[in-house]
Amino acid sequence: MQNLLKSVRIIGDPVLRQKSRPLVFPDDTPYISTLVRTMEGTLEVAEGLGLAAPQVGESVRLFIATPDYLDELNGHVVFINPEIHPYDEMEKREEGCLSVPGIYELLSRKSRVKIKAADVRGNTFSLDLGGLAARLVLHEVDHLDGILFVDKLSPIKKKLLKGKLRKMREGRRVY
Ligand code: NI
Repeated sequence: MQNLLKSVRIIGDPVLRQKSRPLVFPDDTPYISTLVRTMEGTLEVAEGLGLAAPQVGESVRLFIATPDYLDELNGHVVFINPEIHPYDEMEKREEGCLSVPGIYELLSRKSRVKIKAADVRGNTFSLDLGGLAARLVLHEVDHLDGILFVDKLSPIKKKLLKGKLRKMREGRRVY
């Protein structure tokens, strides 16, 4: 199988800003299989916690989680056409993103999320998540709507990161 790896798209790439399209079963099933294999290889090499399809240049509603989260995610690694309901208290956690390399910032989001999604066969499942798994899901679903975690930082933090982010968008080394 060729092309098992794709490079991760970096902030400034327009594909990261698009609203992704839903996947259709069974029409998209072969495409999904190839995409998931590609993304799993990419995530492993990049050593990230999760990866959304737009990050490898595919504007579709799919994300994957690292198998490290298997317990919390009840064995699920692939999430297709996710629908989410975030709830409970706001919670601050540090976030980073393979598409915004080298930047880690505390960000407040709801601490729990209910998610309904399809697996690679098109079977739907539901989970009720907290902790890091909830945070991962909220971060990845944002990618499917063209949102990056740095968009959600306070105006002051954004201002502090402005130079770094601009250099990233322009494709220059920042560190
Ligand atoms: Ni990300």
